[in-house]
Amino acid sequence: MSTSAAQDGKVILPGGTIGVLGGGQLGRMLALAGRNMGYRFVTLDPTPDAPTGQVADEQIEAGYDDVDAARRLAALSDVITYEFENVDAHVTNILMEESYVPQGSQLLYTTQHRLREKRAIEAAGVPVAPYAEIRSEAELREAAELFGIPCVLKTAMGGYDGKGQWVLRSLDEVPEAYATLSKAKTELVLEQFIHFDKELSVIAARSPRGEVKAFPAAENIHVHNILHESIVPARIEVAIQKEAEELAMKIAASLGVIGLIAVELFLTKDGQLYVNELAPRPHNSGHYTMEACRTSQFEQHVRAICNLPLGSTKLLSPVVMVNLLGEHIAPLTEKLAEPGFLEDEQLGVSAKVHLYGKKEAKEKRKMGHINLLTDDVEKALTWIEQTGIWGK
Ligand SMILES: Nc1ncnc2c1ncn2[C@@H]1O[C@H](COP(=O)(O)OP(=O)(O)O)[C@@H](O)[C@H]1O
Ligand SMILES: [Mg+2]
Repeated sequence: MSTSAAQDGKVILPGGTIGVLGGGQLGRMLALAGRNMGYRFVTLDPTPDAPTGQVADEQIEAGYDDVDAARRLAALSDVITYEFENVDAHVTNILMEESYVPQGSQLLYTTQHRLREKRAIEAAGVPVAPYAEIRSEAELREAAELFGIPCVLKTAMGGYDGKGQWVLRSLDEVPEAYATLSKAKTELVLEQFIHFDKELSVIAARSPRGEVKAFPAAENIHVHNILHESIVPARIEVAIQKEAEELAMKIAASLGVIGLIAVELFLTKDGQLYVNELAPRPHNSGHYTMEACRTSQFEQHVRAICNLPLGSTKLLSPVVMVNLLGEHIAPLTEKLAEPGFLEDEQLGVSAKVHLYGKKEAKEKRKMGHINLLTDDVEKALTWIEQTGIWGK
């Protein structure tokens, strides 16, 4: 018996099979957490021996838009989840008809599109940076004059790691920015540039029973628009940490989220929080939870979609998560076996290495991360600097 009726929604018990659309690192860490609890996993991904496929019971090797493959995934799964947000709407419909997708299609529909997402956040009563929908070069000029320079033009769909964006540093850039981004054949949105003091994120979970919990806010540092470090506790006032966590829970409840929702935020010098964007899945900035919280984001997602009670999100130790991109793998490999590297007794830092099993260490590709457990996040930041792996 892998399922049983509960008062509020279906419960999927251990022994049941979780289908994961997408076979990258997020699915891999989800499967590792779920396997500990006794769930089985099947994943769908076109890459042979994908990161998730390596730790799942089975991988269906096919494209994300392959309808027959989606049907096979549905037939094998008691519950289905996804590890990226650009899921094809047609495939989602098939999966919902032929299997069980507690996260539904509405949240994907909302978060796939920046304008829909911003309207949903505002409807939850949570502030976003001032924005305008842009339908022509004239509208771009008008909005840029209104918001002031700099401002940020973004494609409404399909952007990631800073792609699909143009920071306008002068009104002279209006024609080129418009011409370039309108090639993406999606709506455009202009945002006021927020001169933030810090970037934060909060990951919240909600279950079909309506239970909502948030993980501690992370302070995020990006390099070339890719997440580099997450620092927890964030080096901000506790009251603002709590406010950020409250905002994320409010969004989770208002959007009727099932599973995880990651909320990216800007914090200004005068203490104002704005939501930047959402991701309806585990998030890179939540990897710190794997060793540093009572429950990891991955276990929490499994619990939420299977309708088990959510776990405590309590922080067990200060932590810094640092990403390992392709170019960091060779210097890491050189140091890994050195005494005092993984366990630095002088600094009091324990390094927990996570590698995703990707074959080729291409530049800028996310290959893994390290969670640095410490008594003081500054010591973990010193450790990162001392290794020289991430340059200076
Ligand atoms: N309105 C803005 N004001 C200031 N910085 C911004 C703004 N929008 C984006 N950025 C910067 O660009 C980064 C990437 O933008 P984001 O909208 O999160 O896109 P992506 O989908 O690429 O993560 C942000 O983390 C932030 O550093
Ligand atoms: Mg982002």
